[in-house]
Amino acid sequence: MARCLVTGAAGFVGRSIAAALLARGETVRGIDNLLTGKCENLSGLEAMEFIEADLTDPGACARACAGIDTVFHEAALASVPRSVQDPISTHRHCVDATLNVLLAARDAGVRRVIYAGSSSAYGDTPTLPKHEEMTPNPISPYAAAKLAGEHYMRSFARVYGMETVVLRYFNVFGPYQDPGSPYSGVLAVFCQRMLAGRQPTIFGDGQQSRDFTYIDNVVEANLLAAAAPAGKVAGQMMNVATGASSTLNETFDILAELTGYSGKPAYAPARAGDIRDSLADIRRAEELLGYRPRVHFREGLRRTVDWYRSQS
Ligand code: UD1
Repeated sequence: MARCLVTGAAGFVGRSIAAALLARGETVRGIDNLLTGKCENLSGLEAMEFIEADLTDPGACARACAGIDTVFHEAALASVPRSVQDPISTHRHCVDATLNVLLAARDAGVRRVIYAGSSSAYGDTPTLPKHEEMTPNPISPYAAAKLAGEHYMRSFARVYGMETVVLRYFNVFGPYQDPGSPYSGVLAVFCQRMLAGRQPTIFGDGQQSRDFTYIDNVVEANLLAAAAPAGKVAGQMMNVATGASSTLNETFDILAELTGYSGKPAYAPARAGDIRDSLADIRRAEELLGYRPRVHFREGLRRTVDWYRSQS
């Protein structure tokens, strides 16, 4: 790899990829509009060149892509419920931004763009595990927007010969995930609340299940996707997950043990746009990248709880 650009570099996934790249001695540039990303997340990334700008600005994308070999496009406005509330902003920061990044990457001669896809693309199809041959069925505006980005990736591979790789992440969690917004991922919220002795709320009956994926596995998949031969991965899409799932009720029980929280969860009505079960088939990433999830759910939760504890 020569020079790398990480979009969303002040966000949870982006900063984690940037840290891994720096640790390998790569030259890294990051861009973030700090809308949901945080300056604190840049600590430890001092060796990274940082641009504070918005990807909806084509000029900013051009500056960010100049001289770059590989783009890790992690920037997005995450969250299903946020997209239900405000679909236009989700579209702008997921779809318009992605097209701008691709155009700037094409014009700058970027070799490879790796895109953070979302398991939400599968929607509420009853078939489990979700495999890449399944017809997408996005339910929420967020899912539709992330899927649109995937289609742009594939079309840029087809018509401009760019090496695009889509990694469909399944419920990523771990250190640096923001617990402080109503749109935060469930494990970040639960860790923070339970460590503080505050009752978490489960939306629905808690029997919904997710293939919760620890951040190190996602970082590893990105590094593998950057290094894989073009003939194997260019224009491809694959799941990045663990291939196992847990219900929210089960997860609550493990977290109670790890945090020492002795209360019960509160239950509230299920969220609009929520899906019931999510579990990935990860054979394609195994085959194309040699990917294997190294950190399993319980160990990931343990590390995550330790990290939130160290922050509080
Ligand atoms: C969805 C997408 C995921 C995407 C993420 C971005 C699917 C399968 N996944 O995840 O690809 O990256 O949005 O935000 O669509 N919950 C509670 N209590 C809380 C918070 C959440 O019970 O305090 C519940 C939710 O209702 C949901 C589950 O926990 O059933 C997981 O929610 P969340 O962490 O927001 O992720 P998803 O919506 O599954």
